Amino acid sequence: MMKNAIRNTVGAVLLGAFALSGAACKKAAPPSGSAGDGQGVAQTASGDVIRIGEVGSMTGSEATFGTSTHKGIELAVKQVNAAGGVRGKKIELISLDDQGKPDEAATAATKLITQNGVSAILGEVASSRSMAMAPIAQNHKVIMVSPSSTNPKVTELGDYVFRVCFIDPFQGTVMAKYALDNLKIKKVAILRDVKNDYSVGLANFFAETFKKGGGEIVIDQSYSAGDIDFKSQLTAIRAKAPEGIFVPGYYTEVGLIARQARELGVKVPLMGGDGWDSPKLKEIGGEAMNNSYFSNHYSSEDKSPVVQEFITQFKAAYNEVPDGLSAAGYDAAKILFDAMGRAKSLASNDIREALAATKDYPGVTGKIMIDEKRNAVKSAVVLKVENGEFRYQTTVNP
Ligand code: PHE
Repeated sequence: MMKNAIRNTVGAVLLGAFALSGAACKKAAPPSGSAGDGQGVAQTASGDVIRIGEVGSMTGSEATFGTSTHKGIELAVKQVNAAGGVRGKKIELISLDDQGKPDEAATAATKLITQNGVSAILGEVASSRSMAMAPIAQNHKVIMVSPSSTNPKVTELGDYVFRVCFIDPFQGTVMAKYALDNLKIKKVAILRDVKNDYSVGLANFFAETFKKGGGEIVIDQSYSAGDIDFKSQLTAIRAKAPEGIFVPGYYTEVGLIARQARELGVKVPLMGGDGWDSPKLKEIGGEAMNNSYFSNHYSSEDKSPVVQEFITQFKAAYNEVPDGLSAAGYDAAKILFDAMGRAKSLASNDIREALAATKDYPGVTGKIMIDEKRNAVKSAVVLKVENGEFRYQTTVNP
């Protein structure tokens, strides 16, 4: 059974979200239209609210992905409602926890559509979970916008499925080029999570560009999400004397891998992708994370007014500096509301067309253009982990 949002942290999440709306206390009623006709769900927007669903990992080993994203989305909802809502209607956010499990993400998407009658779904972060949700959104013709799922397959699952982030062929290229051109290394080991579509894809895209650029993958090892002992893989890697290790996983395992690598005397830089982005990386990996680099959606050190304004408002709301997940969640929500405002009507098909026409959107995570495959074309940043801080290194344009 899916644990829905009405408990613990997530309980606060849901209450907080409801409290944002004028229709705060209304119980979610079933949608008035039948889902699946491309308009059914949008009929729920004919009242004084627009219901938006959110699916995220609010608990589990990727909990910061869900909670950080939620804060970004919640801030966007607050701002939009304070400014009068979208087409005069207040946004009502319904957030569900999938505990980091693809089947729970699918269950949550179904519930949001068939029981809560949402007009659109924001989520998921992890590509494997977005891929579990996408066919459901597509079947019901309900818009789904992933803030930060980067595996190319996500948006290939249907034309109601969008994302506001770059995809992994680009992200892999960014790190491969950074390794070759900036770190000047030519021999890299890969350690990938075979249970994670994102990790497998990003490892492949990295390897492709790295080899094209004259680099060599000296060994390619794997683990499975949830593992805690990586010594045998790291020992095999050590034997090949790589100049760097590419570990495109999520923060919990990456932190443990860093510690165990250093314990084994492996001091070369670790490299990774956006899946490293969590305040927990520093806690789990500690000093072992020093001298590591990863590609990401945003840097809090970016001095641009859009970024600094967002950080100021986020700090005022949550008393912390937003990570990339919060920034991407904020952008996803804002872009969805922007499209809803521009659409011919709030029918799913009209929102879809407006979203597809998004261009030059000044997001916190960069200037965003939605391409014909419903992916965002935008820049990436490279960050260096230094004593618990993520230091900005460079921006790479597509
Ligand atoms: N891009 C990752 C995926 O597709 C998810 C992620 C995004 C993780 C941003 C952390 C930060 O699975």
